[in-house]
Amino acid sequence: MKENVIIFDTTLRDGEQSPGASMNTNEKIRLALQLEKLGVDVLEAGFPAASEGDFEAVSNIASKVQNMEIAALARTTHEDIDRAWMAVKHAARPKIHTFIATSEIHMVHKLKMSRQQVIEKTIDAVKRAKSYTDRVEFSAEDGSRSDRDFLCQVFEAAIEAGATTVNLPDTVGYAVPSEFGALVQYVREHTPNIHKATISVHCHNDLGLATANTLAAIMAGARQAEVTINGIGERAGNSSLEELVMCLHTRQKDLALTTNIDTTLLFPTSRLVRGVTGMMVQPNKAIVGANAFAHEAGIHQDGVLKNPMTYEIMKPETVGLNRNQMILGKHSGRHALRSHLKDMGYDLSDAELHLIFKKFKGLCDKKKYILDEDLEVLVTEIMLRTADIFELEYLHVSCGTTVMPMASVKLLINGRSVKGTGYGNGPIDAVYNAIASLVDITTELLRFTVSAISGGTDAQGEVTVRLEQDGIVALGRGADPDIITASARAYINGLNRLEYLKNSQNESHSTDMDESGGI
Ligand code: KIV
Ligand code: ZN
Repeated sequence: MKENVIIFDTTLRDGEQSPGASMNTNEKIRLALQLEKLGVDVLEAGFPAASEGDFEAVSNIASKVQNMEIAALARTTHEDIDRAWMAVKHAARPKIHTFIATSEIHMVHKLKMSRQQVIEKTIDAVKRAKSYTDRVEFSAEDGSRSDRDFLCQVFEAAIEAGATTVNLPDTVGYAVPSEFGALVQYVREHTPNIHKATISVHCHNDLGLATANTLAAIMAGARQAEVTINGIGERAGNSSLEELVMCLHTRQKDLALTTNIDTTLLFPTSRLVRGVTGMMVQPNKAIVGANAFAHEAGIHQDGVLKNPMTYEIMKPETVGLNRNQMILGKHSGRHALRSHLKDMGYDLSDAELHLIFKKFKGLCDKKKYILDEDLEVLVTEIMLRTADIFELEYLHVSCGTTVMPMASVKLLINGRSVKGTGYGNGPIDAVYNAIASLVDITTELLRFTVSAISGGTDAQGEVTVRLEQDGIVALGRGADPDIITASARAYINGLNRLEYLKNSQNESHSTDMDESGGI
């Protein structure tokens, strides 16, 4: 008989704490719906007290999602907990997740609280959360570096006050698997009322051990894992959902553990997170990296052709990587496109399909075969766009070995057409200078990357930019078979997202995240 491990996804909260990975509300909703399809049990939708934008995203997700518990994070203050409840209360299954640090170093230097005060705060916060909902999780921040007996004491107090889940985070990614597994075992043996709660773990990847630590904890009896897609998160990230799930799936005979995750949606979900956050996935990343199933060595290729299981411990199809992609082209109709996108994990509204079909036809004029990767870019562009202020109408560039690169650009700004020219060191510099002369925004280009979406000289180029203005950083993406056009689109997309972020930050009431144990 297999036991179930609860998958608690925190891509939208801890994942969003990755530098530069901020998402807007529409993107978060889209991702939440995808995570629901994936089979996530608990979704941490955000930290409502952190900003108005977070509050709005959590409350929107809470009212749209049906099949997952929706958790909102809160420090152990009444204000945070009340705000978390206001945001999640419309969820079918709302949850409040409150946390306070329990390690000596955090209590002395950050919180300036005694052990007794931390216990009192814990009890008070859990009781407050419990007055709103039965589903209350308590986290002992920096738990892995806390005194073991004190940790058990805090967990006992939290459970006594009503916590249904107690979470043991390795906040700074310091633990090693044998030690972390032993800590979970210790908590199980020394917390008298532990049978009344689920033990959860939340591991960071500073030493590259987040998934290994999570697995060790599960083998020692933890039954909830806090994870993120692609392992994104604060600093080096969190334990990766796809790695943990595939580990339990691939070794199920030995581990006798299971999850509710539909593994065939892992790859499309990873792509969606990559698209939304602009955080590239390293090619050799386990499960979802571009090389995860690519065999380079001749001996390996020969073996795989004779029997894939010689060198493959999982089938690519199991994680949703379809090797024999059905290729679409200019004769493919709307129906074929819809059903193909559905197989890829995208259920589109009629309006979205209409827009994507138009773009798809446009791309077919430039590129003979349209691959899944091309479609993914179209889908993310259409589904995740913000209300655009700036739109590219026209672009002409002249450059070469003997001329100074020059670009003419026509933009629609709030529907009004404007035209400008720019010169630069190269064609992209010229295009960016032309665009900059038309918009009244001074930004710094922090990052510019270009990559080919697929193989072949007619492949679409995908450009990602990171723009900064007054401390606000926005990501922009653009794709086109012409990389200069892709670069212009990425810059314009970045400008639109910057405007969106500026507006939402203006609306937000800012909270001091250092106060009372901020994260
Ligand atoms: O890493 C951490 O300790 C956290 C807590 C808020 C659970 O993210
Ligand atoms: Zn964390």
